[in-house]
Amino acid sequence: MKISSAEFVISNSDVAKCPKDRLPEYAFIGRSNVGKSSLINMLTERKSLAKISGRPGKTQLINHFIINKNWFLVDLPGYGYARVSKSAKKVFQKFITEYFSKRAQLVSAFVLVDSRHEPQKIDLEFMQWLGENQIPFSIIFTKADKLTKTKLPLNIEQYTNEMLKYWEEMPNYFITSSSSGLGKDQVLDYIREVNQQLAKS
Ligand code: GTP
Ligand code: MG
Repeated sequence: MKISSAEFVISNSDVAKCPKDRLPEYAFIGRSNVGKSSLINMLTERKSLAKISGRPGKTQLINHFIINKNWFLVDLPGYGYARVSKSAKKVFQKFITEYFSKRAQLVSAFVLVDSRHEPQKIDLEFMQWLGENQIPFSIIFTKADKLTKTKLPLNIEQYTNEMLKYWEEMPNYFITSSSSGLGKDQVLDYIREVNQQLAKS
């Protein structure tokens, strides 16, 4: 899919104030610093559409971007970031779970996990929660450029084995790098296909 326009729409902490347009929406979620905002910039080929930082906790609100004037891409705060105060962390988690349970326009989530790390409890629990709430998702393995060509498939295999302890099959997944652009076409083609199916139904 070619991205001809990508514009910031609104940031907020209240799901009731998110855009009312009935456009298909895709949300990027995962632990702080996993690379959600970087991936959004890579996919849209806009260097600073979403704000990036080396320090975890950069994205603190629900951020809507409108792509090609016909679908929304959503950048969310990371979960599991301990350095924000306990009360602030609670607020993030509440509005994140509210966003996922109330946002009718949400078509699918992308759960980002760092391809370098072993499966993390918080990610597995979050995917479990999505499953229980019947929210479709794909996994995106990020920062693939930081692994060697031999280590990367080993880590994906290890992750798959862990997922198969809880899931009948491995969810749909993508391997990406925001620095090399790896996975860009696959993620965008997937979104295009889902949008086309929705338009037909
Ligand atoms: P929060 O908003 O804090 O939840 O973080 P985030 O998930 O949005 O992460 P962000 O995109 O801000 O990236 C965090 C750090 O990882 C930044 O220093 C990025 O430059 C770096 N980074 C993100 N993606 C990649 C990648 O694919 N490869 C490499 N090498 N670095 C990456
Ligand atoms: Mg971010």
